[in-house]
Amino acid sequence: MLEGANAMHPDESISPPQTRVAMERVSKTFYEETTGEPVLAVDDVSFGVRKSEFVTIVGPSGCGKSTVLNIIAGLEQPSDGRILIDGVDEALRHEHFGYMFQKDLLFPWRRVRDNVGIGLEVLGTPRKEARERATQILERFDLGAFADKYPAQLSGGMRQRVALMRTLLCDREILLLDEPFGALDALTRSVMQEWLLSIWEDDHRTILFITHDIEEAVFLSDRVLMMSARPGRIKGEIEVNLPRPRDHTIVTTPEFTELKKAVLDQIYEESLKAARPDEP
Ligand SMILES: Nc1ncnc2c1ncn2[C@@H]1O[C@H](COP(=O)(O)OP(=O)(O)OP(=O)(O)O)[C@@H](O)[C@H]1O
Ligand SMILES: [Mg+2]
Repeated sequence: MLEGANAMHPDESISPPQTRVAMERVSKTFYEETTGEPVLAVDDVSFGVRKSEFVTIVGPSGCGKSTVLNIIAGLEQPSDGRILIDGVDEALRHEHFGYMFQKDLLFPWRRVRDNVGIGLEVLGTPRKEARERATQILERFDLGAFADKYPAQLSGGMRQRVALMRTLLCDREILLLDEPFGALDALTRSVMQEWLLSIWEDDHRTILFITHDIEEAVFLSDRVLMMSARPGRIKGEIEVNLPRPRDHTIVTTPEFTELKKAVLDQIYEESLKAARPDEP
């Protein structure tokens, strides 16, 4: 175990030089609000994401996936270890990231275009310009007709698209997406997955994507990292060498099924553990 967040010397990075985002030997302990009991959520996690790579972390519920993403984004401090961006440990690294939370978190009192533009407004863009850019992206992705509606007037799939557009509009090169399609039905979900890949094919931003859906992980990614049940550790990783661009016809191919099985074999046992947390 390391002694603290600054215990590693800058030259001792364990990640290859081309790594865009590196999590190095990160652990996180939370303390229960009522009892003060320590809860080890993430235990000695190291991994890297290369520039333009699409990496997915898959793991059972409660294993520490959101915690990993929050630590990378700088929303939580690690108890041990560190995060490097292009090899540099930056305290104020949030400026590199577009972040989409597990819930869509649209503001019900703001129209769709003002929800999409709010990230820019927060960054200091004048509201008029933020609105114009929000309108452009809504039109580009076929939601122009809904720009003046309120979130409650949209379907679940549309709300997720609006939330994702807000994240995309901030022009950050690295996207951290926490189960963005988790609440959607299977059909809407596959449409959204293809939509996300088509956007990614445009500009190949670096993406770290969280899910507990194995098929989604394989379909989207260049690489899948598997996390164990809490305390979360990286249990293994699988390269997905399926051709791109991909569409949903790929999910019935033997190559896809084989990759899915390889991920499932490693993760199934962990999901059983997560479902029976009190057993030794
Ligand atoms: N602020 C906090 N205070 C105390 N415990 C926390 C806090 N945040 C997370 N935890 C605990 O840390 C563990 C990991 O939580 P986390 O939300 O990262 O899991 P997850 O893998 O994202 O789960 P899910 O799949 O349900 O989204 C859980 O046991 C959770 O209860
Ligand atoms: Mg989560």
